[in-house]
Amino acid sequence: MSNVTLVSPPAPTIVTADQPLRPHDPGSLISMRGIWKTYQMGSEAVHALHGVSFDIPKGEYIAIIGPSGSGKSTLMNLIGCLDTPSQGEYWLNSKNVSEMDDDELARIRNQEVGFVFQTFNLLARATALHNVELPLIYGGIGSAQRHEMAKQALAAVDLADRVTHRPNELSGGQRQRVAIARALVNHPSILLADEPTGALDTHTSMEIMDLFDRLHGEGNTIIVVTHEADIAARAHRMVSIRDGLIEKDEKIR
Ligand SMILES: Nc1ncnc2c1ncn2[C@@H]1O[C@H](COP(=O)(O)OP(=O)(O)OP(=O)(O)O)[C@@H](O)[C@H]1O
Ligand SMILES: [Mg+2]
Repeated sequence: MSNVTLVSPPAPTIVTADQPLRPHDPGSLISMRGIWKTYQMGSEAVHALHGVSFDIPKGEYIAIIGPSGSGKSTLMNLIGCLDTPSQGEYWLNSKNVSEMDDDELARIRNQEVGFVFQTFNLLARATALHNVELPLIYGGIGSAQRHEMAKQALAAVDLADRVTHRPNELSGGQRQRVAIARALVNHPSILLADEPTGALDTHTSMEIMDLFDRLHGEGNTIIVVTHEADIAARAHRMVSIRDGLIEKDEKIR
């Protein structure tokens, strides 16, 4: 057992003397200002993010790249409201997430965020349909409507003919498409994908990225973390992270 505690140490000071932080942008879907994430490891403080600020307008398609340990997943977890910053402001859809308690965070996460992970994170014993229905169950939606919405979401990822299959009866690419249907079934504001093609072969990876292109074309806001240059190149904006800071932020299309 490690001696990790998630209690935040005293907030670090944001350097504001020469670089005052602009107020958050109320027009952006995501607006972060001076975000720090610090983990306390025994007596040592690990700063995973060092005062990150950026804005993401609705409808953008962004790739986040950077070396292992640079803070990409930490940033995704904050964007996705799985965690709160140690210091700084995070506004999502005009709501100040950085001040929310756990219940409010859970609610906003369910409404606003769809997650896709490298290892799919599906329930092994449940059918594709049931997996996709899960966020709707948490959202308190009745069973008839749930079924209908989950079927539509599966049809949208070309899996209308696989609704009763369980994960071990599906290919890797099909499993990831079930996970994408689950992420989108609530019509969230953002789709977050952390290494979504990390467990897939090249051909299947490209199929998943084609699906992301289409979802972006349909108006979805997408943020993808990846190690792979050809996956990152599919996005329209590329944010490079190094040592917990944004090193480069460029429009690539
Ligand atoms: N729960 C935690 N407790 C302590 N330190 C953590 C915790 N989570 C992450 N860290 C540290 O924060 C830093 C950033 O980690 P993070 O997982 O965000 O990196 P990453 O860029 O996603 O890396 P990878 O590409 O390997 O997935 C790392 O140094 C890591 O060791
Ligand atoms: Mg990571």
